[in-house]
Amino acid sequence: MNAQTSLHSADASTVEEALERQEVIDSESATAVAMQNTLLTPRFYTTDFEEMDAIDVTPVREAWDKLIAEMQADPNKGHFKKNADWDTVDWDGMEPHLRAEFIDFLISSCTAEFSGCVLYKEMKRRGKNQDITTLFQLMARDEARHAGFINDALREAGIAVNLGFLTQSKKYTYFRPKFIFYATYLSEKIGYARYITIFRHLEEHPEHRFHPIFKWFREWCNDEFRHGEAFALLMRTDPKLTSGINRYWIKFFLTAVYATMAVRDHQRPYFHQALGVDPTWYGHEVFRKTSEISKQVFPVTLDIDHRRWQPNLDRLQAANQQIAAGKKQGGIGGWLKEKAGAAKAGMTFVSLLTIPAIANAPPVSARLEPAY
Ligand SMILES: [Fe+2]
Ligand SMILES: [Fe+2]
Repeated sequence: MNAQTSLHSADASTVEEALERQEVIDSESATAVAMQNTLLTPRFYTTDFEEMDAIDVTPVREAWDKLIAEMQADPNKGHFKKNADWDTVDWDGMEPHLRAEFIDFLISSCTAEFSGCVLYKEMKRRGKNQDITTLFQLMARDEARHAGFINDALREAGIAVNLGFLTQSKKYTYFRPKFIFYATYLSEKIGYARYITIFRHLEEHPEHRFHPIFKWFREWCNDEFRHGEAFALLMRTDPKLTSGINRYWIKFFLTAVYATMAVRDHQRPYFHQALGVDPTWYGHEVFRKTSEISKQVFPVTLDIDHRRWQPNLDRLQAANQQIAAGKKQGGIGGWLKEKAGAAKAGMTFVSLLTIPAIANAPPVSARLEPAY
């Protein structure tokens, strides 16, 4: 099927065929997947927009203006379009487990990208502070492109996430602005690290590049890098955000984001096998890069080489499997299994939190350039 096929016109027969084969997820269930709100799925956020709007970027003015100018120059303006590098994708010939996991990966990536778009657009709409609205407008522009590009890729498989419906109907989680900073800064930087790690790996092992979208990851991840830079600067406007009790909040967010990523990636064994990537190695590599980058602003980094770190992540993953098995089993036995799994996951997370963090003194200037 070609890229231009519209979801509403030509895909009905494809979806029907798919349903007959009971293999491919149709668009409605793709949207349903995107609608899920669990600890492991991407969420939509809302915040105190007035407080956000009151931020004064004067303390970081020079770096700020430079970053905004870079984003306004729009280096990726023409990037998110299919061109001759977009080889034909044999969705029908794809191994069914791989296809299912890859589609799940695309849906969850699309939801995450779009979640950024929705939050940033809302900030732009509600704000009056020109520095802030300009930034959020530029970031919303990028995230809309990213989500749209993934949706284009999904459409070739006869699937699309209904982004309009998501905006209207998905549950929004409220976070105070400082928590938005920690969570969003991290998700942008970890997004950069994830995309660039896959890109570099596939540069060395092109035989594992089973879909053309990976060729787009390098320029793509530079957008995420810049978004992360913006949040680093925002946090630099107020030293309180990265000191005192907030050191503990930062440690909490680092642990939660890393642990979620590790568990989620292990849910996709066929996907990682096709990429020729061991998810444990990949996780560690992404954490290492993200930790190194986050030294630009965070007063602590996690000790990912601590002897309890990896065993706890493994335990968390086992607990997650137990929860899933309990849910599938149903009945009282299944319920008990699920609750026991959840208790184990909770205790393991606490154990991860008790690993001492490594103190860090961020440099005078926060700005970084992508180095991987
Ligand atoms: Fe993005
Ligand atoms: Fe981003």
